[in-house]
Amino acid sequence: MADPSQVGRLVESMKRAVSIPVTVKSRIGIEGKGMSPKSDYEDLRSFTQTMVEAGCDGLIVHARIAVLGGLNPAENRTVPPLRYDDVYALKAEYPELPIELNGGLRTLEEMHRHLHDGLDGIMVGRAAYETPRILGFIDSILDPACQLEDSMQAREKSDHSHLIHVLDRMHGYILNRFEEGVPPSRIVRHMLGLFHGLPGARRIRQKLSGKWYAGLDNRMLLGRYLADVFRELTEFEPVSSKS
Ligand SMILES: Cc1cc2nc3c(=O)[nH]c(=O)nc-3n(C[C@H](O)[C@H](O)[C@H](O)COP(=O)(O)O)c2cc1C
Repeated sequence: MADPSQVGRLVESMKRAVSIPVTVKSRIGIEGKGMSPKSDYEDLRSFTQTMVEAGCDGLIVHARIAVLGGLNPAENRTVPPLRYDDVYALKAEYPELPIELNGGLRTLEEMHRHLHDGLDGIMVGRAAYETPRILGFIDSILDPACQLEDSMQAREKSDHSHLIHVLDRMHGYILNRFEEGVPPSRIVRHMLGLFHGLPGARRIRQKLSGKWYAGLDNRMLLGRYLADVFRELTEFEPVSSKS
């Protein structure tokens, strides 16, 4: 964002080279490293204008400034305050340009609200990784009339069956990759969010962290261990990996 013309030239070149949409993901502004402060809405508006003139097909806006030099990447995802209003103001000025909101969306309720409040889409980062079971409900929030509160019971029931299904697929996948030499921890550590919020999740995370797979040196032993751990939280019975 420090050099909007350069980004515009990149967009133009990409547009010439491909036939798929070319979109730009940006913050609402940048600040630091001796640059002039780029945290004003006016800078975002002028950046957007440059993108539109370059032929950009849409913007995904992380609704925070980035502080260059002062904050590390993780801090840059939490410390600068969220300014959703700037993204809505931009959409009001550029009704023809598809604009998606990103940053800090955690709950299905928030996602549903922003998805149907005049923007063209939302992007969810950390919540999808840390609480991946929310992805099982994404279809329902696409419906503007969806009453999330009312369908809570049905959601919990389908949440459970989604989880069993995902665990079953992952169980088979881990065992197959294990036979190709992939350490199971490399896959399992990215699954721990699946158990988020379930009673006993902490114990499961402990059982699947560190060197838990030492000694599980064949498919059968590994498969049994994983099935036992998964069963502690669910009625998990492996189906896909029986062969
Ligand atoms: C581990 C991690 C890796 C990321 N990698 C990228 C990336 O390669 N490109 C990108 O545009 N954003 C990346 N992001 C930023 C996210 O796309 C998103 O803008 C940011 O996490 C804020 O959204 P959230 O609050 O929903 O997580 C990454 C975020 C995380 C946590």
